[in-house]
Amino acid sequence: MCGIVGAAAQRNVSKILLEGLKRLEYRGYDSAGLAVIEEQAIGLRKAVGKVSELVNKFDQDPIKGIVGIAHTRWATHGAPSEINAHPHSSDHIAVVHNGIIENHEELRQQLKDKGYDFVSETDTEVVAHLIHSFFIESGCLKTALRQAVGSFDGAYALGVISAQQPDTVVCARSGSPLVVGVGIDENFIASDQLALRQVTDRFIFLEEGDLAEVTTEAIRIFDQQGESVERPVVQLTDVEESADKGEYRHYMLKEIHEQPRVLGNTLQGRVSKHSVLEEAFGAEAKAIFDQVEAIQILACGTSYHAGMIAKYWFEDWAGIPCAVEVASEYRYRKTVVRPNTLFVSVSQSGETADTLAALRGSEGYLASLTVCNVANSSLVRESDLCLMTLAGPEIGVASTKAFTTQLVALQLLVIALGRRAKMTPEKETELVQALHALPELCEKVLKLDAEIQQLSEAFSEKHHALFLGRGVEYPVAKEGALKLKEISYIHAEAYPAGELKHGPLALVDSDMPVVAVAPNDQLLEKLKSNLEEVQARGGKLFVFADEQSGFANDDNTTVLLLPDVPGSIAPIIYTLPLQLLSYHVAILKGTDVDQPRNLAKSVTVE
Ligand code: F6R
Repeated sequence: MCGIVGAAAQRNVSKILLEGLKRLEYRGYDSAGLAVIEEQAIGLRKAVGKVSELVNKFDQDPIKGIVGIAHTRWATHGAPSEINAHPHSSDHIAVVHNGIIENHEELRQQLKDKGYDFVSETDTEVVAHLIHSFFIESGCLKTALRQAVGSFDGAYALGVISAQQPDTVVCARSGSPLVVGVGIDENFIASDQLALRQVTDRFIFLEEGDLAEVTTEAIRIFDQQGESVERPVVQLTDVEESADKGEYRHYMLKEIHEQPRVLGNTLQGRVSKHSVLEEAFGAEAKAIFDQVEAIQILACGTSYHAGMIAKYWFEDWAGIPCAVEVASEYRYRKTVVRPNTLFVSVSQSGETADTLAALRGSEGYLASLTVCNVANSSLVRESDLCLMTLAGPEIGVASTKAFTTQLVALQLLVIALGRRAKMTPEKETELVQALHALPELCEKVLKLDAEIQQLSEAFSEKHHALFLGRGVEYPVAKEGALKLKEISYIHAEAYPAGELKHGPLALVDSDMPVVAVAPNDQLLEKLKSNLEEVQARGGKLFVFADEQSGFANDDNTTVLLLPDVPGSIAPIIYTLPLQLLSYHVAILKGTDVDQPRNLAKSVTVE
């Protein structure tokens, strides 16, 4: 979603802010802007489109200053335009904002009554004028921000500067993430530490309701009650993975090809030759795991698909009841929690608003655990236990390596809990050995890239596609369909193949490509009967299968042969060719693969 960067330094901060925006661009990208304090006034530059547009504008008409804020925007209130782009200003005040102020209409009216004029359609302009109105009373930026946030309903991360207090950036968060970057004689703020890794590796992760006053000399933090508080400085020791595309044309392609390595990372130190090492879940895990009788998984989008797959594993291998639901639905309904249920959230970013709200509203659970990719994210900090997926930064908006590493992490959880339930040591050994084989098998599948590229030609002119799977391969089909629609804008639907004749079969004709996920498992024969129904209606089949599955090419059937793999890892292996398929279709269609229209990487508003 939107991105925030801010800086107070003893050097010109404009370039630091622009570099920060580039690093955040994958989150939101319909417009961008920066504000610095130049000669006792706010200097503003804004542009519609990518950060490069802003950089071009800036280069033609640069501004210089030692204190500033900047923003990439993903439109919520008002269309993408220069007027609606952040920062928004009110005389000597400038503001950047992530989140949504729900009562902005009411506040707008009050401010209009006081004589403030509005130029944009955004809720953020309300924030700027409100802070300005409070500043008039106190002459103190921190006090004005404290008073303003007291009037807001909704979610926000805010960065604010004033030309009348030219050495300070103030910021506040509630419901949207914000970090303070700690430098030497310079300090920073950002919505994601990734934006600041070029200037520091030390961070303070602000907590819900925190407000901070940042200058070159000091960082002062105040909690929701206005009390001065100390928050720990975290030194990030992880090797920074390069945020560039390397030899690849797109981040998505790079991230697809990183999977053999990062799946190895997810496993490293967490499995011995034959079993899962429980220490991976933290010191408190054992006491909690010993009591678990049921699982509730909450997630959104691709992460929800990972949860759907884990449900099959929990119930089949471990005999542990497992429910899975999209967080945006769960959070608004009354739920009945069975005794000793573990709340499991799954999230790449750890900041998805609905998933976070589901955690915050959860009551009656034994404990919470998050499967997450971003260290120190809100879900990680607010859950009792966490298992990091260790996929490294995922920049492409369409999730790839985050999904497959989530599956591995969830499988480790299934095993750790399953051996307390019905899973035998022999089953655990079988599962762990299959996991060890995973990176190499993924390498093999990625070598099929050229064949998949060829196959993609059959899709590029189509308007619709159907994806089918049965059992645990149904969520894999759903993930394949989501990838295709996200980046190629082809309407794609996934069905459990047994549902075909209950309706969707009516859509099948020679113009409808039908993708089947068909490893040789216990439901293969059932799937084959369903596929015959498709063939009988002239549908064009694209079958992803192994040799044992017994499919052959004919006029209406194209088979992509995958290596024979253990059933326990088939959902992971079969995801890879579907990712490559959507990538190549998108290339043929000429869409923006890494930053598809209307989408953002981290959905921090509901
Ligand atoms: C799809 C995709 C989204 C995310 C969803 C949840 O490719 O990336 O569907 O999976 O927005 O995000 P996280 O996993 O960050 O909670």
